[in-house]
Amino acid sequence: MTTALKGKDILHVKDLKLEHISLIMETAARYENVLASGGRLTNMAGKVLATLFYEPSTRTRLSFETAMLRLGGQVLSVAEAKTSSSAAKGETLFDTGKMIEGYADVAVIRHPVVGSAAEMAEGASIPVINGGDGAGQHPTQSLLDVYTIQKEKGRLLNLTVTLAGDLKNGRTVHSLSWVLGKYGPRFYFVSPEELRMPEEITKALRQDGIEVIETSNMEEAVAKSDVLYMTRIQKERFTDPAEYERLKGSYVVTLDLVKKAKSGITIMHPLPRVDEIAKEVDDYEGAAYFRQASNGVPVRMALLALVTGSE
Ligand code: CP
Repeated sequence: MTTALKGKDILHVKDLKLEHISLIMETAARYENVLASGGRLTNMAGKVLATLFYEPSTRTRLSFETAMLRLGGQVLSVAEAKTSSSAAKGETLFDTGKMIEGYADVAVIRHPVVGSAAEMAEGASIPVINGGDGAGQHPTQSLLDVYTIQKEKGRLLNLTVTLAGDLKNGRTVHSLSWVLGKYGPRFYFVSPEELRMPEEITKALRQDGIEVIETSNMEEAVAKSDVLYMTRIQKERFTDPAEYERLKGSYVVTLDLVKKAKSGITIMHPLPRVDEIAKEVDDYEGAAYFRQASNGVPVRMALLALVTGSE
């Protein structure tokens, strides 16, 4: 079973079956326990991770790199790949993938164009992990999101979950809705009309028998929800700055909103936040977004070990 993901690219959440997700979460929990008890892991000793980031990142790049170091491996990193790699000379992602396989055992790519990770994976014989491709997918974020929900709520089945904010451009909510959909949730999708979840996703969820309520009414949604997953309006995906200015600040989570929410609601956010969660909410015990970011380390450790056959 631990070989189920060996050699696999992780490009889209559709690449992951329920048994894969369970395996990743079990492995992550085990690694987290080892680290928490002061233990050391050496599964990836002698192996190299390449991180190629053509778009800004704090959490995804640093947590993948920390994950590799905590497994005893080493890291090659290109943080501004758009300008500081040979992409600036016109090299294709396919060719970059061919090159990287000679330097590393596994690669993580973030890129502004949907499908870019798949293009690199086509060229590379080593596993390629999508660290976010434009407004497309962010599969590893959704894995740490479900890991966080399991830890915070003690279960994944039969939860009512509100996904809110920029559902059109937010790749984290695209990936999370596919993954959580496997656990029979009820979804509230809260967004301005212009930033609704792509129909391809809502249609597929409904075809799978999942209840999806699309609304612009945040109070109604959080009053019924076990989890609120807030997202920022994705400024970098707007072609019209005036449209961004009009829509930013559409929703702000405040303590007043938390008081109106279902008791014990867990508040998550993939981060970075701009102003969509007021700082006053950080002290609320159900505010899980910084714990969520930390969970990226054990989950990405599990992924790296599993796709390279090092578990
Ligand atoms: N959540 C997330 O992808 O954060 P970064 O953009 O900082 O990697």
